[in-house]
Amino acid sequence: MQFKTLAIHSHQHPDPVTGAVINPIYQTSTFAQEDAGVHKGWDYSRCGNPTVDTLAAVLADLEGGKHGYCFSSGVGALVTMCNALFKPGDHLLIGDDVYGGTFRYTTKVLSKYGIEPKFIDMTDPQNVEKAIRPNTRMVYMESPTNPLLKLVDIAAIAKIAQKHNIPTCVDNTFASPYLQNPIEMGVDIVLHSTTKYIGGHSDVVGGALILKDDTYNEVMRFHRNTIGANPDPFNSWLTLRGLKTLGLRMDAHCASALELARFLEAHDGVETVFYPGLPSHPQHALASKQMRAGGGMISIRIKGGEAEARKFLKSVNVFTLAESLGGVESLIEHPATMTHLSVDPKVRQEIGITDNLIRLSVGIEDVADLKADLEQALKAVSSTAKAAAV
Ligand SMILES: Cc1ncc(COP(=O)(O)O)c(C=O)c1O
Repeated sequence: MQFKTLAIHSHQHPDPVTGAVINPIYQTSTFAQEDAGVHKGWDYSRCGNPTVDTLAAVLADLEGGKHGYCFSSGVGALVTMCNALFKPGDHLLIGDDVYGGTFRYTTKVLSKYGIEPKFIDMTDPQNVEKAIRPNTRMVYMESPTNPLLKLVDIAAIAKIAQKHNIPTCVDNTFASPYLQNPIEMGVDIVLHSTTKYIGGHSDVVGGALILKDDTYNEVMRFHRNTIGANPDPFNSWLTLRGLKTLGLRMDAHCASALELARFLEAHDGVETVFYPGLPSHPQHALASKQMRAGGGMISIRIKGGEAEARKFLKSVNVFTLAESLGGVESLIEHPATMTHLSVDPKVRQEIGITDNLIRLSVGIEDVADLKADLEQALKAVSSTAKAAAV
């Protein structure tokens, strides 16, 4: 079955007892047992729940993996995976432009337990080969990255890691399983913040891990049960409902983002546009190879500095100034003071999260309204700059 069919029908069938077309919400913490230890496959909802497990199974199908696990957030998925795979003394190779919360967890928490994260520019796979040490326990990638929309050659890096017997993980949140499937490229584990495109409606926080095969299945199941960062059935049901339209929504996000990226690139109030779907993106060829389209996220450097960026953020009307991304509504944010505030200011400058950088999550509103909104906000910035110069 094709993606859009699978998203609706995989593991989702009319209920044989009632005929209900939609999977029920099993809002229960526990399950009756026929005899001590004899049950129908579920005993306690931290360790498994039919609604949560359906979401996990659909996600595994959509990513081409064998097992799926759902969590209370993307960070919950990350923490559980790290607990499952690392021991003191291990070394983690991680991209230098990852989500701020991933940066915070690995530098401020994981490092307390003797696990050393090493941040490297993975746009050149050779940097990964050179940085591998005998104690390297994982190569962790994000592609496209948040917020600079850099890509890494997932297949090339997975091949290098495999040669050294090191597991790989890709945070596939920005692309979603509709645009990119890292497991097909040789990756062992896919991580999602389902809060974003998968849920798609900015009404639920969640995360997921998808495993290629059985290798890490038992250890992941054990840690999922032991750590308890599990989602509740209602959140999982909402995510499952959102997931049914992922393909349709991504088509709309991608078409509008491409149109807006072209518009912004041609505008003289904008210094740089970062969008993998634009031929001017330095890794456009790689994007065409490993992604089905450019995605719904755009970052720009506005002409000027923080003052101009702040003016722009205050001037938009259809875009909402808010963290997060991937919902039907367009959002806009300032990474340096919002999503990436926890990144050391020196590191922020080094990797390019400048004070004039703005990140847009393009929603599925009418693109003409989105374009008009950006146009009037850019005009407001240039009129303020002109007035200041007089
Ligand atoms: C790329 C990426 N990965 C992971 C996360 C963490 O997900 P959550 O907020 O669901 O914990 C985020 C959140 O913004 C993200 O953007």
